[in-house]
Amino acid sequence: VRIYQAEDEGQMSRQAANLISAQVILKPDAVLGLATGSSPIGTYRQLVEWHRKGDIDFSEVKTVNLDEYLGLDGSSPASYRFFMNEHLFDKVNIDVNHTHVPNGMAEDIDRECRDYDRLVQDLGGVDLQLLGLGHNGHIGFNEPGDAFENGTHVVELTESTINANARLFARREDVPRRAITMGVGSILRAKKILVIVSGEDKARAVRDAFFGPVTPQLPASILQLHRDVVLIADRAALRLCR
Ligand code: F6R
Repeated sequence: VRIYQAEDEGQMSRQAANLISAQVILKPDAVLGLATGSSPIGTYRQLVEWHRKGDIDFSEVKTVNLDEYLGLDGSSPASYRFFMNEHLFDKVNIDVNHTHVPNGMAEDIDRECRDYDRLVQDLGGVDLQLLGLGHNGHIGFNEPGDAFENGTHVVELTESTINANARLFARREDVPRRAITMGVGSILRAKKILVIVSGEDKARAVRDAFFGPVTPQLPASILQLHRDVVLIADRAALRLCR
Protein backbone atom coordinates (compact mmCIF):
# COMPACT_ATOMS: atom_id res chain seq x y z
CA VAL A 1 0.00 0.00 0.00
CA ARG A 2 1.36 3.40 -0.98
CA ILE A 3 0.29 6.09 1.44
CA TYR A 4 0.01 9.78 0.61
CA GLN A 5 -0.65 12.26 3.34
CA ALA A 6 -2.82 15.21 2.38
CA GLU A 7 -3.03 18.32 4.49
CA ASP A 8 -6.79 18.27 4.63
CA GLU A 9 -9.90 16.90 2.97
CA GLY A 10 -9.72 19.40 0.12
CA GLN A 11 -6.23 18.35 -0.86
CA MET A 12 -7.16 14.67 -0.48
CA SER A 13 -10.05 15.21 -2.90
CA ARG A 14 -7.91 16.98 -5.48
CA GLN A 15 -5.24 14.28 -5.36
CA ALA A 16 -7.85 11.56 -5.75
CA ALA A 17 -9.47 13.41 -8.66
CA ASN A 18 -6.05 13.70 -10.25
CA LEU A 19 -5.54 9.94 -10.17
CA ILE A 20 -9.02 9.29 -11.55
CA SER A 21 -8.59 11.78 -14.38
CA ALA A 22 -5.16 10.33 -15.18
CA GLN A 23 -6.84 6.93 -15.47
CA VAL A 24 -9.45 8.33 -17.86
CA ILE A 25 -6.84 10.11 -19.97
CA LEU A 26 -4.73 6.95 -20.22
CA LYS A 27 -7.76 4.81 -21.02
CA PRO A 28 -10.78 6.82 -22.21
CA ASP A 29 -13.09 3.79 -21.93
CA ALA A 30 -11.87 2.89 -18.43
CA VAL A 31 -14.17 1.07 -16.01
CA LEU A 32 -14.30 3.07 -12.79
CA GLY A 33 -15.53 1.46 -9.59
CA LEU A 34 -17.25 4.17 -7.56
CA ALA A 35 -18.36 4.75 -3.99
CA THR A 36 -20.88 7.01 -2.28
CA GLY A 37 -20.84 8.58 1.20
CA SER A 38 -19.16 11.77 2.38
CA SER A 39 -15.62 10.81 1.43
CA PRO A 40 -15.87 11.06 -2.38
CA ILE A 41 -18.05 14.18 -2.59
CA GLY A 42 -15.11 16.58 -2.97
CA THR A 43 -13.46 14.27 -5.49
CA TYR A 44 -16.59 14.19 -7.65
CA ARG A 45 -16.93 17.98 -7.37
CA GLN A 46 -13.36 18.37 -8.63
CA LEU A 47 -13.96 15.99 -11.53
CA VAL A 48 -17.08 17.95 -12.50
CA GLU A 49 -15.09 21.18 -12.44
CA TRP A 50 -12.33 19.76 -14.65
CA HIS A 51 -14.95 18.34 -16.99
CA ARG A 52 -16.53 21.81 -17.32
CA LYS A 53 -13.14 23.24 -18.19
CA GLY A 54 -12.85 20.65 -20.93
CA ASP A 55 -10.11 18.64 -19.28
CA ILE A 56 -11.89 15.30 -18.77
CA ASP A 57 -14.12 13.49 -21.21
CA PHE A 58 -16.45 10.85 -19.75
CA SER A 59 -18.14 9.91 -23.02
CA GLU A 60 -16.56 6.44 -23.16
CA VAL A 61 -16.17 5.86 -19.42
CA LYS A 62 -18.06 3.06 -17.70
CA THR A 63 -18.85 2.96 -14.01
CA VAL A 64 -19.91 0.32 -11.52
CA ASN A 65 -20.92 1.34 -8.02
CA LEU A 66 -20.15 -0.73 -4.97
CA ASP A 67 -23.50 -0.86 -3.28
CA GLU A 68 -27.12 0.16 -2.88
CA TYR A 69 -29.78 -0.04 -0.18
CA LEU A 70 -32.41 -2.73 -0.57
CA GLY A 71 -35.88 -1.33 -0.98
CA LEU A 72 -34.96 2.10 -2.34
CA ASP A 73 -35.32 2.97 -5.98
CA GLY A 74 -33.21 5.46 -7.84
CA SER A 75 -35.69 8.30 -7.43
CA SER A 76 -35.40 8.15 -3.64
CA PRO A 77 -33.00 10.90 -2.51
CA ALA A 78 -31.33 8.54 -0.02
CA SER A 79 -30.54 5.93 -2.66
CA TYR A 80 -27.02 5.60 -3.93
CA ARG A 81 -28.22 5.85 -7.53
CA PHE A 82 -29.69 9.26 -6.69
CA PHE A 83 -26.46 10.30 -4.98
CA MET A 84 -24.37 9.36 -8.00
CA ASN A 85 -26.67 11.16 -10.44
CA GLU A 86 -26.63 14.26 -8.28
CA HIS A 87 -22.91 14.41 -7.51
CA LEU A 88 -21.44 13.16 -10.78
CA PHE A 89 -23.45 11.53 -13.56
CA ASP A 90 -25.87 14.42 -14.23
CA LYS A 91 -22.99 16.90 -14.31
CA VAL A 92 -20.61 15.28 -16.77
CA ASN A 93 -20.96 13.85 -20.28
CA ILE A 94 -21.24 10.23 -19.20
CA ASP A 95 -23.75 7.99 -20.99
CA VAL A 96 -26.24 6.98 -18.29
CA ASN A 97 -26.38 3.51 -19.86
CA HIS A 98 -22.72 3.15 -18.98
CA THR A 99 -23.39 3.80 -15.28
CA HIS A 100 -24.25 0.85 -13.08
CA VAL A 101 -25.50 0.73 -9.51
CA PRO A 102 -26.95 -2.47 -8.01
CA ASN A 103 -30.75 -2.46 -8.27
CA GLY A 104 -32.14 -2.24 -4.75
CA MET A 105 -35.65 -2.92 -6.07
CA ALA A 106 -34.81 -6.13 -7.92
CA GLU A 107 -37.47 -8.79 -7.43
CA ASP A 108 -35.00 -11.62 -7.48
CA ILE A 109 -32.12 -10.38 -5.36
CA ASP A 110 -29.92 -13.45 -5.74
CA ARG A 111 -30.19 -13.11 -9.46
CA GLU A 112 -29.40 -9.39 -9.28
CA CYS A 113 -26.22 -10.28 -7.36
CA ARG A 114 -25.13 -12.87 -9.91
CA ASP A 115 -25.97 -10.53 -12.80
CA TYR A 116 -23.94 -7.74 -11.22
CA ASP A 117 -20.86 -9.95 -10.96
CA ARG A 118 -21.31 -11.02 -14.57
CA LEU A 119 -21.72 -7.41 -15.66
CA VAL A 120 -18.42 -6.42 -14.07
CA GLN A 121 -16.76 -9.39 -15.72
CA ASP A 122 -18.30 -8.56 -19.12
CA LEU A 123 -17.02 -5.01 -18.83
CA GLY A 124 -13.54 -6.48 -18.51
CA GLY A 125 -13.18 -5.83 -14.78
CA VAL A 126 -12.66 -2.61 -12.87
CA ASP A 127 -9.61 -0.56 -13.84
CA LEU A 128 -9.68 1.76 -10.85
CA GLN A 129 -11.79 1.22 -7.74
CA LEU A 130 -12.45 4.18 -5.46
CA LEU A 131 -13.16 3.27 -1.83
CA GLY A 132 -14.10 5.04 1.37
CA LEU A 133 -13.47 3.42 4.74
CA GLY A 134 -16.13 2.76 7.38
CA HIS A 135 -15.45 3.46 11.05
CA ASN A 136 -15.57 -0.28 11.69
CA GLY A 137 -13.29 -1.02 8.75
CA HIS A 138 -16.01 -1.86 6.26
CA ILE A 139 -15.50 -1.42 2.52
CA GLY A 140 -18.57 -1.25 0.35
CA PHE A 141 -21.09 -2.71 2.75
CA ASN A 142 -18.82 -5.59 3.69
CA GLU A 143 -19.19 -5.44 7.44
CA PRO A 144 -16.92 -7.12 10.00
CA GLY A 145 -17.63 -10.85 10.12
CA ASP A 146 -16.20 -14.31 10.33
CA ALA A 147 -15.22 -14.60 6.69
CA PHE A 148 -14.55 -12.49 3.63
CA GLU A 149 -17.40 -12.68 1.11
CA ASN A 150 -16.38 -13.10 -2.47
CA GLY A 151 -19.06 -11.87 -4.88
CA THR A 152 -21.96 -9.43 -4.77
CA HIS A 153 -24.33 -10.31 -1.94
CA VAL A 154 -26.98 -9.04 0.46
CA VAL A 155 -25.92 -7.79 3.88
CA GLU A 156 -27.60 -6.88 7.12
CA LEU A 157 -26.19 -3.52 8.12
CA THR A 158 -24.63 -3.19 11.55
CA GLU A 159 -25.94 -0.72 14.12
CA SER A 160 -22.77 1.32 13.68
CA THR A 161 -23.38 1.69 9.94
CA ILE A 162 -27.09 2.44 10.40
CA ASN A 163 -26.20 5.16 12.91
CA ALA A 164 -23.52 6.62 10.64
CA ASN A 165 -25.96 6.75 7.72
CA ALA A 166 -28.97 7.99 9.68
CA ARG A 167 -27.94 11.59 8.97
CA LEU A 168 -29.11 11.13 5.41
CA PHE A 169 -32.63 10.13 6.41
CA ALA A 170 -35.50 12.04 8.02
CA ARG A 171 -35.84 9.42 10.77
CA ARG A 172 -33.55 6.64 11.96
CA GLU A 173 -36.35 4.12 11.30
CA ASP A 174 -36.19 5.09 7.64
CA VAL A 175 -32.65 3.75 7.20
CA PRO A 176 -32.90 0.46 5.32
CA ARG A 177 -31.52 -2.45 7.31
CA ARG A 178 -30.25 -4.38 4.33
CA ALA A 179 -28.15 -3.54 1.33
CA ILE A 180 -26.63 -5.17 -1.71
CA THR A 181 -22.87 -4.86 -2.04
CA MET A 182 -20.00 -6.03 -4.16
CA GLY A 183 -17.99 -8.57 -2.21
CA VAL A 184 -14.45 -8.30 -0.95
CA GLY A 185 -13.42 -10.62 -3.79
CA SER A 186 -15.06 -8.34 -6.36
CA ILE A 187 -13.22 -5.37 -4.88
CA LEU A 188 -9.86 -7.16 -4.88
CA ARG A 189 -10.26 -8.07 -8.55
CA ALA A 190 -9.96 -4.37 -9.46
CA LYS A 191 -6.66 -3.65 -11.16
CA LYS A 192 -6.00 -0.58 -9.03
CA ILE A 193 -7.58 0.57 -5.79
CA LEU A 194 -7.70 4.12 -4.47
CA VAL A 195 -8.80 4.57 -0.86
CA ILE A 196 -9.65 8.04 0.43
CA VAL A 197 -10.05 8.79 4.12
CA SER A 198 -10.27 12.02 6.05
CA GLY A 199 -10.96 13.08 9.60
CA GLU A 200 -9.83 12.20 13.05
CA ASP A 201 -12.80 9.88 13.59
CA LYS A 202 -11.30 7.48 11.00
CA ALA A 203 -7.80 7.41 12.53
CA ARG A 204 -8.26 4.08 14.32
CA ALA A 205 -9.84 2.42 11.32
CA VAL A 206 -6.93 3.58 9.13
CA ARG A 207 -4.29 2.32 11.55
CA ASP A 208 -5.98 -1.04 12.10
CA ALA A 209 -6.77 -1.59 8.41
CA PHE A 210 -3.34 -0.77 7.02
CA PHE A 211 -1.00 -1.60 9.90
CA GLY A 212 -2.84 -4.38 11.75
CA PRO A 213 -3.42 -8.04 11.02
CA VAL A 214 -5.43 -9.05 7.96
CA THR A 215 -8.77 -10.23 9.33
CA PRO A 216 -12.43 -10.38 8.27
CA GLN A 217 -13.14 -8.59 11.55
CA LEU A 218 -11.75 -5.55 9.73
CA PRO A 219 -12.64 -6.07 6.06
CA ALA A 220 -10.42 -3.25 4.72
CA SER A 221 -7.35 -5.00 6.14
CA ILE A 222 -7.39 -7.37 3.17
CA LEU A 223 -6.39 -4.44 0.96
CA GLN A 224 -2.87 -5.02 2.32
CA LEU A 225 -2.73 -8.10 0.09
CA HIS A 226 -3.59 -6.26 -3.14
CA ARG A 227 -0.63 -5.32 -5.31
CA ASP A 228 -1.76 -1.82 -6.35
CA VAL A 229 -3.43 0.15 -3.58
CA VAL A 230 -3.00 3.86 -3.00
CA LEU A 231 -4.28 5.36 0.24
CA ILE A 232 -4.77 9.11 0.28
CA ALA A 233 -5.59 10.27 3.77
CA ASP A 234 -5.45 13.60 5.49
CA ARG A 235 -3.25 14.38 8.45
CA ALA A 236 -6.06 13.82 10.95
CA ALA A 237 -6.85 10.35 9.62
CA LEU A 238 -3.16 9.35 9.69
CA ARG A 239 -2.68 10.69 13.21
CA LEU A 240 -2.17 7.24 14.77
CA CYS A 241 0.00 5.83 12.01
CA ARG A 242 3.36 7.38 12.75
C1 F6R B 1 -20.28 3.78 0.03
C2 F6R B 1 -19.57 2.72 0.71
C3 F6R B 1 -19.12 2.81 2.13
C4 F6R B 1 -18.46 4.13 2.49
C5 F6R B 1 -18.04 4.14 3.95
C6 F6R B 1 -17.45 5.49 4.37
O1 F6R B 1 -20.61 3.43 -1.29
O2 F6R B 1 -19.36 1.73 0.08
O3 F6R B 1 -18.25 1.75 2.39
O4 F6R B 1 -17.34 4.33 1.66
O5 F6R B 1 -19.14 3.88 4.75
O6 F6R B 1 -18.49 6.42 4.34
P1 F6R B 1 -18.22 7.99 4.49
O7 F6R B 1 -17.40 8.38 3.31
O8 F6R B 1 -19.59 8.63 4.44
O9 F6R B 1 -17.52 8.18 5.78
